Amino acid sequence: MSIKKAILPVAGLGTRFLPASKSIPKEMVTVVDRPAIEYVVKEAVAAGIEQIILVTHSSKASIENYFDRNFELETTLENKKKIDLLKEITEILPPHVSVISVRQPQALGLGHAVLCAKAVVGNDDFAVLLPDVLVKDPSETNDLSLMIQRFNETQASQIMVEAVPDNLVDQYGIVDVASTPAEGHSIQMQGIVEKPAVGTAPSNLSVVGRYILPAKIMQLLEQTPKGAGNEIQLTDAIAMLQETDTVEAYRMKGQTFDCGSKLGYLKAVLHYGVDHPKLGDAFKDLIKELKL
Ligand code: G1P
Repeated sequence: MSIKKAILPVAGLGTRFLPASKSIPKEMVTVVDRPAIEYVVKEAVAAGIEQIILVTHSSKASIENYFDRNFELETTLENKKKIDLLKEITEILPPHVSVISVRQPQALGLGHAVLCAKAVVGNDDFAVLLPDVLVKDPSETNDLSLMIQRFNETQASQIMVEAVPDNLVDQYGIVDVASTPAEGHSIQMQGIVEKPAVGTAPSNLSVVGRYILPAKIMQLLEQTPKGAGNEIQLTDAIAMLQETDTVEAYRMKGQTFDCGSKLGYLKAVLHYGVDHPKLGDAFKDLIKELKL
């Protein structure tokens, strides 16, 4: 069976995005006219995902509310004949996609967050999408769907990577590969390390935050000791998996925006703004008016 489930860890407190994230989840910060998390969910849905599993926190109910119906609002819009808006809010997700949430009771790291979804994932292989990073890929077949295709053909786990400047390797998971694959292609990984010190990294290919993983990684996560930052790292469980199974690094063709950082967020607003079907042209005029 193809990959139908995706885990989105959204329990993080978003300290990099304060003060905005003091009272709204960082995932709900608006990129143009919708919350950042919608782009990530739509990326998953475009790749064939049918069940979104949010690993969340008590302070983040607005994320679940966003993907739920809001009858009061719907009725008001209907009575006011605002049919376009009604369509917008009721068609965020296609009917065959469901959203489930589980709680991460303690902030013990990304690996622990993924493990919190174990009971929902069961025996199914699954995708993981980290919601801070937006992946913009205008092609019909997005990067995530190519990773799923490759997984279906080879059963090899897929880790999405992109090249980063050498002085930034200590902010990411970094993969060890014999050579850099072409964009849109995968290569077998020899290792993976979380946030290596500058000058010690095995390559400059960084883990973007999109993974296709086998169900059995949950057993490995249960045995993963605390690693970098004193947290249970998904990277460490993948390194264990790679000792017995083929794991591949998939080099993305799209573009990333790290909405966990303020500048990355502003860049996302610019790019998604100019490409917006309704607002794009007027937004470009606004940018010209700045006469930078
Ligand atoms: C996580 C992962 C890291 C990855 C990064 C991508 O780190 O642990 O391997 O490169 O996301 O954004 P975090 O940014 O949560 O510290």
